[in-house]
Amino acid sequence: MNRIPVIILGAGGVGRALLQQIVDGRQTATARANCRFDVVAVADSRSWRWAPQGHDNAALLEMVAAKKQRGGSSAPELGDVRPDVEAIVQQAVDADLAGAILVDVTATDETTPAIDRALQAGYGVVLANKKPLAGSWAQSGSYFGRPQIRYEATVGGGQPVIATLRYLLDTGDRVQKLEGQLSGTLAYILSRLDDGTRFSVALAAARVKGLTEPDPRQDLGGEDVQRKLLILGRTAGWRLEPSDIAVESLFPAALAHLDVQEFMLASMAMDPSLRDRANAAGAAGEVLRYVAELEPEKGQVGLKAVPVESPQANLKYVSFHTVRYAESPLLVGSNSGGGQTTAAAVIGDMMDLVREWGAW
Ligand SMILES: NC(=O)c1ccc[n+]([C@@H]2O[C@H](COP(=O)([O-])OP(=O)(O)OC[C@H]3O[C@@H](n4cnc5c(N)ncnc54)[C@H](OP(=O)(O)O)[C@@H]3O)[C@@H](O)[C@H]2O)c1
Repeated sequence: MNRIPVIILGAGGVGRALLQQIVDGRQTATARANCRFDVVAVADSRSWRWAPQGHDNAALLEMVAAKKQRGGSSAPELGDVRPDVEAIVQQAVDADLAGAILVDVTATDETTPAIDRALQAGYGVVLANKKPLAGSWAQSGSYFGRPQIRYEATVGGGQPVIATLRYLLDTGDRVQKLEGQLSGTLAYILSRLDDGTRFSVALAAARVKGLTEPDPRQDLGGEDVQRKLLILGRTAGWRLEPSDIAVESLFPAALAHLDVQEFMLASMAMDPSLRDRANAAGAAGEVLRYVAELEPEKGQVGLKAVPVESPQANLKYVSFHTVRYAESPLLVGSNSGGGQTTAAAVIGDMMDLVREWGAW
């Protein structure tokens, strides 16, 4: 059986689900890929735990529990204060750990040095974190078209979106347009407007449900959707810069400098214009959704009226308009998605890397 050293950066919602699934999935990993994932390092923003022989199941579950109960304590939750992320990978190299996988389940752009060191060392890299893949082409372009780097979890919350795109490209189809409702958070908020709920009320409800980032402007600004579209387009082989994708923010620039509480109150000012747009869509048998659209050279993300019964109105989805799927686009969509499905996509990528090891 192949023992695969795994370094995990990030122990938030997705990171914890991943650790739990690695423990729960031991038999599946053996049966389907003849491997065991030996988690040698887990790091969060301040701390880490290192075990070159691999943490046992009890230690992994203890980390899950420690991170879940966070808050209150100023002590590093995982144990030791961590070195910088590149030094974490270097420590694995120095320990002669060959054939390792670096997993990035953070939400920061600080992990690039670790990714580059892992690639140099011949390690596989799996990301749920979009930021390293969504910088300028000069920063991120070299990460595309490399089977050593997998990132299914970055788009679609675990649905096989990247896998479908790779299949289309592998079979010689030509992608002409990509389209999708790529944010579950914005899908939820906008679907509440369908029945006349005010935008500010829908936003507050999404926040209470834990669907938004701590500062909901990170969702409403559209940049996260732009990153997903950029990743899809670059995977399709298009050399895109972030500026090639126009973004319609759902909040005005004048509200950018408020603190979060002030912004939540001020969001009422956005109710009338969004109500008018939702009403206009409704009068035409349509609903308002936050839609991402991309062609080879340019794209846009923003509000669009779509038919009320369409998958576009009712699913988190990506549709692939291609030469073979010209009459009716190939659609991947679901209403599921979250930390568990995202972590499962990370594991799927890890298994693929193990199966294809040495093929790059
Ligand atoms: N949640 C979802 O449904 C979903 C779906 C698709 C994709 N994603 C993506 O998956 C990633 C993780 O999401 P999440 O919900 O788990 O985020 P999260 O709860 O904010 O967790 C982020 C984790 O990264 C850690 N971290 C921050 N900076 C770090 C650094 N420099 N080195 C190592 N660790 C660092 C944080 O440490 P602390 O714990 O110390 O703060 C935290 O443990 C994000 O990029 C997100 O966009 C999430």
